[in-house]
This record gives sequence, C-alpha cells and structure tokens, in this order.
Amino acid sequence: MTAPEFIAAEDPLALAERLADDVVLCLEDGLDARGSASLVVSGGSTPLPFFAALRLRPLDWKHVNITLADERWVAPTDPDSNERFVRENLLKDRAALANFTGLYIDGSDINEAQHVCHDRIASLMPFDCVVLGMGSDGHTASLFPETEGLNDALDLARSDLCRAMHPKGVAQARMTLTLKALLDSQEIAVHITGDEKRQVYDYALVDRAPERAPVSAVLIQEETPVSVYWCA
Ligand code: 6PG
Repeated sequence: MTAPEFIAAEDPLALAERLADDVVLCLEDGLDARGSASLVVSGGSTPLPFFAALRLRPLDWKHVNITLADERWVAPTDPDSNERFVRENLLKDRAALANFTGLYIDGSDINEAQHVCHDRIASLMPFDCVVLGMGSDGHTASLFPETEGLNDALDLARSDLCRAMHPKGVAQARMTLTLKALLDSQEIAVHITGDEKRQVYDYALVDRAPERAPVSAVLIQEETPVSVYWCA
C-alpha cells in the first residue's frame, strides 16, 4: 500500500493557498483533456480559507462543474446547508461562473431523493478532484462511524453513488456520496488542520478499519491518488 502524500504548511492560510494551487492544476488538466472539469467539495469550517483562495484563481470557470461530497438535509437557505456555504464562500469572484449542482431536493424525503441525487452525480463523473474534510471521529463526507448503512456506503461492489444517512448525534439527516463515487476521481485531497485531527489521521492510516474511522477507506485504497493537506 502506498501511503497518501502528506503536505504540511505553516498555517491555515498557507495550507489553503497550496491546496488551491494544486486543485487548479488538477482542474486545468481536466479542462485541457475534455474541455470541462468536475470538482467535489465538502462543508464544515476548514474549507473557508481554501474557498477564499480558490475563487480568486484564474481558470475557465464556466466549464467547471462543482458539487458536494455531502449535504445536510435542510433547505439551501438554512445556515447549516452546505449548498449555502458553497454559494456564499466559493461561488463568488472568478468562481461565480462555475456550474454548481447541489444535493438537496426541495420537498423530497431524503430516502426518496437518493435516486435523483445518484443521477445528478453520475452526470458529473468521473471527477477531476474530490476535496474531503474529516471529523475528529474519523468521518469524511457524511460517512460516519457506527451508522446504519455505512457498510453499504463503503461497499465498492454496489452501484449506489449517493446514500441517505442518519448518523447518531448529528442534527440533520445527511445525503452523502458513497465511497464508490468519491474514488471515481483523478485525485482526492483530504484537508485537515490541528493536532487532534493529525492524531486521528495517523490512527486511521495504521488501524485501517473503516468501520471505526471511515476516512481510512479513502486513505488505504489504491485506486485513486490521495494527498493529505495539514497544518497545526
Ligand atoms: C460536512 C462535511 C464534513 C466535514 C467534517 C469536518 O458536511 O460537515 O462534509 O464531512 O468535512 O465534519 O468539518 P470541519 O472542517 O468543520 O472540522
């Protein structure tokens, strides 16, 4: 197994700039090869400086498709919405020209929406770059440990690209891309900060048990190159 490339920076801003540089290079490869490129981003707080850096980069944004690794099942007007987070922080400046595809389907039950989300995501694949975060419990996207349906969401033999999840202790139901969808990309970046997440990463890489830390399913696979971007 080849371990992920580990890229450290001196602070969150330097890390964000490095990640933005590398994501732009990846998207440019896709644009050069196919005339379009697809980027998957995550919610949370870590992406903020990355989005602020990326949205200023010169790129043929009108031919870039952006979607989400997961979504909280709330309206795009809700403060917890990842779609709202991306529209307010990434789809501005130069990146305002990008094409965004959300996961939330207004008025739909999350379990019924899985198939619509599947078709939406399928139309954007294969991805050029998937940017994931990680929680201190080792979750990534909305693949949370000890959650019903996790094994199916991690099962590469299944054809599902999206799955409705109901993680314990999480405020809202979540729509997540499955591992199969997340790995169908030229590159994967895992963007994490702080010593606690560094310890969780180190543990997940050695323990290799996705049921305990789902992020390890991304870290230990050999299908898609993974780079981890970290700062203290
Ligand atoms: C979400 C994200 C989630 C996030 C981690 C880390 O919807 O919240 O997709 O997987 O990446 O929870 O979040 P922080 O960056 O806030 O630590």
